[in-house]
Amino acid sequence: MKILMASSEAVPYAKTGGLADAVSALSITLAKLGHEVKLVIPRYYGIDRGALTLIPEAMGVPVGGGEEWCAVYTTDLEGSPKKNPVTVYFIDHEKFFGRDGIYGTPSEPDFLDNPRRFTFFSRSVFQLCRKIDWYPEVLHAHDWPAAMVPVFLKFGERREGFAKTVSVLTIHNLGYQGIYSKDNYWYTRLGWNEFYTAGFEDWSMMNLLKAGIYSADKLNTVSPNYAEETKTSAQGFRLDGALRYRAADYTGILNGIDSQLWNPKTDTLLPAKYNPKDMSGKAKNKEALQKEYGLHPDPKLPIIGMITRLTGQKGVGALFGPAYGSAFSICRDMNLQFVLLGSGEAWCENELQSLSGRLSNFKARIGYSEDISHLIEAGADFFLMPSQYEPCGLNQMYSLAYGTVPIVRSTGGLADTVSNFHEETGEGTGFMFNDLTPSAIYNTVGWAVWAYYNRRPQIEAMRLRGMQQDFSWEKSAKKYLDMYESALTPSTK
Ligand code: ADP
Ligand code: GLC
Repeated sequence: MKILMASSEAVPYAKTGGLADAVSALSITLAKLGHEVKLVIPRYYGIDRGALTLIPEAMGVPVGGGEEWCAVYTTDLEGSPKKNPVTVYFIDHEKFFGRDGIYGTPSEPDFLDNPRRFTFFSRSVFQLCRKIDWYPEVLHAHDWPAAMVPVFLKFGERREGFAKTVSVLTIHNLGYQGIYSKDNYWYTRLGWNEFYTAGFEDWSMMNLLKAGIYSADKLNTVSPNYAEETKTSAQGFRLDGALRYRAADYTGILNGIDSQLWNPKTDTLLPAKYNPKDMSGKAKNKEALQKEYGLHPDPKLPIIGMITRLTGQKGVGALFGPAYGSAFSICRDMNLQFVLLGSGEAWCENELQSLSGRLSNFKARIGYSEDISHLIEAGADFFLMPSQYEPCGLNQMYSLAYGTVPIVRSTGGLADTVSNFHEETGEGTGFMFNDLTPSAIYNTVGWAVWAYYNRRPQIEAMRLRGMQQDFSWEKSAKKYLDMYESALTPSTK
């Protein structure tokens, strides 16, 4: 099958979160299964043109009152199979993408021209196919920045090479929709009829994700449980009605994890490797983690780890909240160590710095680091994710693979991937709670720490159970293929 992925992020080129991991890993897995996969992303300022190949001649993209001209660069996606590589195309437009930041900067979190930047990007996907004379059977768009791809296909582009092309939209995070003033609408070059029929209209604003939801042939989000949650008014971010309307075409497909990158048996970023038969390396990683964070090197103390974007979605308000929420009490009252790696909203970064100064067993590292993230997954005993909502979540799956027991709020993909500890039978792979309150977090961490000191054999068994879970992308990619097939062969009902 010929598949073109359109995304604003893809590792190793541009990443703000799990979207980037998911897009590249899915593309690679589909290529390994023998499919012809291409991927298109913007060429942001940080992506070195020197490492890419320029495709000769500029490309015109019809937007606004005329055409915007851009260059196209290409390379093979790192990690893709040599015999059938995924080709990546970079849309290079200096005015739109030649700046720091993917969606914005700390001082301007959502660039004013984002509706234009991503309208242009979505339209460029079609021009790219014409330029390389290659037409996909499936156009697979990811999140709001590429959500206009299905819209353009349905309203105008489904002709010539695209006559039989179908579109799929994956929602990685319903909390970000691309809602802008409809003053930007003219730039799409669509008519006002389409503003309503394509589903852009959102209380007099223009909602890009909503239009994608109405226009894509098939839709999915990144876990079955989140697919259900998003159809409720409580968690639908005002698009629950649109998703219920599309329910027959809307599914949940769990992300996988990249088992080459995230595997304690082979992880080259770790001081010591380990596996279920020989866990001694995990203790060495714990020692290295304590050293890295300047913690007392006591092997007997449980370590709670966290790696996260510091933003409301991740539940940090209840944990580090204005009154020091539960993290302060947890570290004050319990015999443990707590390490965090994260970056994000300034208020939270400040709280963390302040907490680190007050507690000797709490250490936070503000910033982004692949190396330290691997060390936390390997060296910690528990991994905390108190998410307010979580479409899928990758870190709980990394934790399970590394024998690090997750402590999670039972929501979205967390509820699909972790099962709760049962004190009598010892079953389960993690510790779970329902309410996003400081006391629920406090009590559940307390429960896990109690089990660590008093039910150690059960905790060790849980670690091994987690390491045996299958979160391979092969399983997920096959479900995507089923979705593509169903879009290509519409029912005759
Ligand atoms: P989201 O995409 O909502 O942030 P996910 O759990 O799907 O959540 O993915 C987050 C990804 O980003 C994971 O691969 C995680 O390890 C990584 N990550 C987040 N913050 C950091 C950080 N400060 N340093 C290193 N990796 C990080
Ligand atoms: C989003 C979600 C996260 C998910 C990731 C990849 O960023 O917040 O839960 O794992 O996308 O699909």
